[in-house]
Amino acid sequence: MSEEAPHLELKIPNHIAVIMDGNGRWAAARGMPRMVGHRAGTENLRRIITACVEFGVKYLTIYAFSTENWGRPQEEVDGLMNILAQVIEQELAELHQEGVQLRHIGRLERLEPSLRQKVEAAVEMTRDNQRLVLSVAWNYGGRDEIVCAIRDMIRAGVPAEAVTEETVSQHLFTAGIPDPDLIIRTSGEMRISNFLIWQAAYSEWYVTPTLWPDFDKEALRSALEDYSKRDRRFGRLSKCFEDNAAHAGKPA
Ligand code: FPP
Repeated sequence: MSEEAPHLELKIPNHIAVIMDGNGRWAAARGMPRMVGHRAGTENLRRIITACVEFGVKYLTIYAFSTENWGRPQEEVDGLMNILAQVIEQELAELHQEGVQLRHIGRLERLEPSLRQKVEAAVEMTRDNQRLVLSVAWNYGGRDEIVCAIRDMIRAGVPAEAVTEETVSQHLFTAGIPDPDLIIRTSGEMRISNFLIWQAAYSEWYVTPTLWPDFDKEALRSALEDYSKRDRRFGRLSKCFEDNAAHAGKPA
């Protein structure tokens, strides 16, 4: 008689952040242009947003266009900007209906004015939705975010002695969003790539060789199962060890 595997209770992270890597390699493996990979990645993103809603994740942050991505061939940059515009045009109504609140992190000023307006209108339209907060990192860099926060604090006249970790957090693009509990990076690269470098201080990392367009709901479930087994200590001791230490030497 085979023994059943012990049931693992899935712990759902409040906030998942994703580095959606591997679109180019996915396309190359099929002899296709890179943009085909980005389109497949975009379709997958739609599926993963739905999966996050179903799993009960409250915050999802996606790294879609970095401050460094401007250095890619102009055709790819333009293609990615078109994808953003199309996603807003074609998916916004449904995302809104699903209760998704859209946020943008990064700088909008370098975008075409029409695209910028689309993003701002989408953020405004969904601002009261509560089911899932989807933060889209677009023209985002972690170092740039910290520079912006410092400038912001100086402009606001925050005195040096009032600068705390809390104050800095409140001046980041992610103000009001809790730090990510789990950061997933697809395609096997072991790098942070300037993503949420302040916020990731105590995030759990999950790196999978799966390329982003293939990272489906089951792959997400595997990431959640892995996360569920982690012992998050935040630099302290594990809960069980602390409990034992607290009771040591005390009468039962
Ligand atoms: C990384 O793969 C992926 C990107 C730089 C772009 C990701 C963007 C999308 C999936 C577009 C959808 C997003 C929104 C919000 C509309 P890569 O090109 O670096 O892959 P490679 O390392 O295999 O070349």
